[in-house]
Amino acid sequence: MLGVCYYPEHWDEARWETDARRMVELGIRFVRIGEFAWSRLEPARGQFAFEWLDRAMDILARAGLKIVLGTPTATPPKWLVDECPDIIPYDKDGKPRGFGSRRHYTFSSETWWKESKRIVEIVAERYGNHQGLVGWQTDNEYGCHDTIISWGPEDLKAFKRWLRMRYQSPDQLNEAWGSVFWSMELTSFDDVALPNLTVTEPNPATRLDFWRFHSDQVAAYDKMQCDIIRKHSPDRWITHNFMGFILDFDHFKVGDNLDLASWDSYPIGFVEKFPFSEAERNRWAETSHPDIAPFHHDLYRAVGNGRFWVMEQQPGPVNWAPWNPVPKPGMVRLWTWEAIAHGAEVVSYFRWRQATFAQEQMHAGLNLAGLDELSPGGLEAQRVAQELASLGVLPDTRKARVALVFDYQSYWTTVIQPQGKDFRYEELCFRWYEAARRLGLDIDFVRPGASLEGYDLVLVPCMTEVDEAAHAALKAATGTILIGARTGSRDRNFRIPDNLPPGSLSEMTGHRVIQVSTLRPGLSDPVSGAVAGNGIRWREYLQTDAEVLSTFANGDPALTKKGSVHYLACWPDEKLLAAAVRHVATKADIPIVEVPDHIRIRTRGDLSFAFNYGDSPWSIPADCEMVLGEAILAPQELSVFRLKP
Ligand code: GAL
Repeated sequence: MLGVCYYPEHWDEARWETDARRMVELGIRFVRIGEFAWSRLEPARGQFAFEWLDRAMDILARAGLKIVLGTPTATPPKWLVDECPDIIPYDKDGKPRGFGSRRHYTFSSETWWKESKRIVEIVAERYGNHQGLVGWQTDNEYGCHDTIISWGPEDLKAFKRWLRMRYQSPDQLNEAWGSVFWSMELTSFDDVALPNLTVTEPNPATRLDFWRFHSDQVAAYDKMQCDIIRKHSPDRWITHNFMGFILDFDHFKVGDNLDLASWDSYPIGFVEKFPFSEAERNRWAETSHPDIAPFHHDLYRAVGNGRFWVMEQQPGPVNWAPWNPVPKPGMVRLWTWEAIAHGAEVVSYFRWRQATFAQEQMHAGLNLAGLDELSPGGLEAQRVAQELASLGVLPDTRKARVALVFDYQSYWTTVIQPQGKDFRYEELCFRWYEAARRLGLDIDFVRPGASLEGYDLVLVPCMTEVDEAAHAALKAATGTILIGARTGSRDRNFRIPDNLPPGSLSEMTGHRVIQVSTLRPGLSDPVSGAVAGNGIRWREYLQTDAEVLSTFANGDPALTKKGSVHYLACWPDEKLLAAAVRHVATKADIPIVEVPDHIRIRTRGDLSFAFNYGDSPWSIPADCEMVLGEAILAPQELSVFRLKP
């Protein structure tokens, strides 16, 4: 179940044989290669140099490794950029982004599509049936370095095309966007401009369409690569390596192209990226917050329709966050097992050996910089391999009892019109997830509109547009439902619904929202009743015929219930959120195991896993059979056990 990312082109060919042998000795079975190698595969247009990759793949395959090959499109070479400057992306200020790192292309460029098709076709044809090849990775990390949205001439051209298809006539576009406001009406699709460089805020409906347009392009671009690969490489699977906390495109739509999802897990790096408080950052600096990686494991299990890998696992300090501490001893092993507990089929470390040159010299590998000598992270990977071997085949992941509906468009909508500066969709979902995990619950992510049947509890932190499919799925849900603020607050054209929020959901929830107040940091509105705590950041004023379970200070409804549908009319602080999630989980009859903030548990089939991200020990529930580890869970340790029936 272990893999590694390897760059044969970074090392003298004389070392490849030894590298492959040492990988296998370590317990590694999968190796991902090739995703940045374009300049070595095609040094000049039409001049191909495949022999080195042939030899590398043969060596890896002979050693018994299964190969995952990346298409090299994340790094168009210099000659191509010079020849085709129209592939270059533009930043929001309208400045071109240059050659000299990676991801310097825009999804909008027709030239780029042509060039991508060409190289993918050539690589897929050559290696599609290689005996060592088991799967493909398309490109590398769509969205990394802020590269989904581009603001150049090619983007404008493609955006106009997309708008023509969607709206058919300028009148319909004006109507959808509400262009009569501020005299923004257009008489032809040629009048459309990019929604940047405006004097003040551009039209939010235009911005949302611009986001949707880019998101659609990513999915279509990925599908183009998948179609070519499938033609030349039958019986091999295809994945893409997604990222943490990148929400600029709808990952579910890209997932539809793939056989399985994968993602790149850098638990400590993400502590700096996520809007934690400074106190939390310091607390989790060397272990990561216990929900950062699991949140994504569960998300990508859904994106991959039940199947996911970790394609890149942090093996030690990384190089790209503002600060890059060494993980506490044991954490590389713990993260690997945590991924497995959440159903990962393979955990693949980034990278085999620390580089001694270029941008990522300070990024750890399984081997020390330049050497054939395992790093501390490499030694932990070795231990995991031995433990995995002793456990044999692991049971499959089961459907969880709790569903969390996750919606990329709600992120776009709330970024475009935050109303309160600190309304951050990903943070909200993360906190809801955290609250459920603190109750020991397993969670499945579900895309809007997908079936919610069979879930005992459905959490909807926020879904700004509830389209017909999402509405139908919620209506058909048989479990207890908890819906958060802002849900149903916009229609597909970014308008307030005719009957006020929550629009089409009003029958189910029994309320309408007549006012919204956003609260500065430090301000709050106390909530009391069946659940208590504080509303912070966002607070709604409801008129409701539902039962009122909790109220704000002035007696207004804060938590309501109609049938099994609960509605929480604010951004809850930690206490209120914990109480609300506990309340609905109890209503749903789901057994709860409250865990301290540094402990998490998770099941895979009949196996239970416990993880300790903190400094104090924790006792595993008494009546169980230990499979791995100890009944007293020490800091940075994990245990695997079976609950006795
Ligand atoms: C990922 C990327 C890798 C490498 C790694 C370093 O985002 O896919 O190529 O840059 O980060 O942590």
